[in-house]
Amino acid sequence: MANTRRIGVLTGGGDCPGLNAVIRAVTKTAMHQYKLEVFGIEDGFLGLIQNRLRPLAWNDVSNILTQGGTILGTSNQANPERFAIERGGKTEWVNVTDRVVDHVRANELDAIVCIGGDGTMTGAANLIANGINCIGVPKTIDNDLEGCERTFGFDTAVHTAAECFDKIHTTAMSHHRVMVVEVMGRNAGWLALHTGVASGADIILIPEIPYDLEVIAEVLRRRSKSGKRFSIMCVSEGAKPKGGDVVVQRRVETSPDPIRLGGIANKLVADIEEATKLDARATVLGHIQRGGSPTPADRVLATQFGHHALEILMRGAQGQLVVQQNGRLAEVPIQSVAGKQRKVALDDPLVLTARAVGTCFGDS
Ligand code: F6P
Repeated sequence: MANTRRIGVLTGGGDCPGLNAVIRAVTKTAMHQYKLEVFGIEDGFLGLIQNRLRPLAWNDVSNILTQGGTILGTSNQANPERFAIERGGKTEWVNVTDRVVDHVRANELDAIVCIGGDGTMTGAANLIANGINCIGVPKTIDNDLEGCERTFGFDTAVHTAAECFDKIHTTAMSHHRVMVVEVMGRNAGWLALHTGVASGADIILIPEIPYDLEVIAEVLRRRSKSGKRFSIMCVSEGAKPKGGDVVVQRRVETSPDPIRLGGIANKLVADIEEATKLDARATVLGHIQRGGSPTPADRVLATQFGHHALEILMRGAQGQLVVQQNGRLAEVPIQSVAGKQRKVALDDPLVLTARAVGTCFGDS
């Protein structure tokens, strides 16, 4: 068994339902099974940069299994390798990795459980390269972490989005409208694909399949002529036209990935109304998809991930990310997945199923 006595745990990047369930599983396994001390690091890597840590007691992690968000706080703007500081009214970028390493050593942390997505794993890879043992736990509503077929938070986000689609459906029918609903997911279409199929969307647009507006317009006209007086479109925020580009909502320069997508639904509504003369409306689900209590499936997955992180750590693992592969828990080196994104394959079974039941992906 590794000589591990005290560990840290942090949540980095955008939040998602199930983070607290992982914190609970990590902390309870560490205390109950291995008699370790656990320190909670506040606001992701920012807490390591600023030395903001607190010891976690059993009661701190009781009653949090079902809570959304993270009791530790998070940040998606604190990359120790490229940290923004204000000097003389200007932003400067500095590498504060040495400061982070000093804080880890001063707090006598033998390892850190880093719960996050690809940005957090990139940060963890940097710490590993600097001699700090990190064990990763994959979170994101985008489900786009390389080497992992299911991240916790995804199931809840699909559930939440599908509930919203059910509500959109009834008003679409009443007003005979084309409803264009934008979901998150960054440059991967998993959230849109699963939500669209779960909601019976007529058209699903994902980043991996650039769309042709005329194909979409033709489907909408055909539906309208055949007596179907409404249509539902599930559009990923990263969807883009053939030969065109994504719609960028804003840039967050202090973030490891500065691009924030958003706005494609409004663009599509304008284009569709012009091309078809049908009445269309846009809805952007936004951060609602990241909130709320995790579904039972996410609670289970998060608990399994948190427990497995401790198990492999105590077996001596170094720099490994807990993953789910072929429905089973496994681990892969964090450095092999950092900075990579898992996209929807064009022949993904769910894409083929959706096409088979008549769903249009905007390409043919
Ligand atoms: O990665 C999770 C996610 O919610 C993406 O789906 C979305 O593009 C992004 O984060 C939004 O980031 P922010 O919370 O910084 O607006």
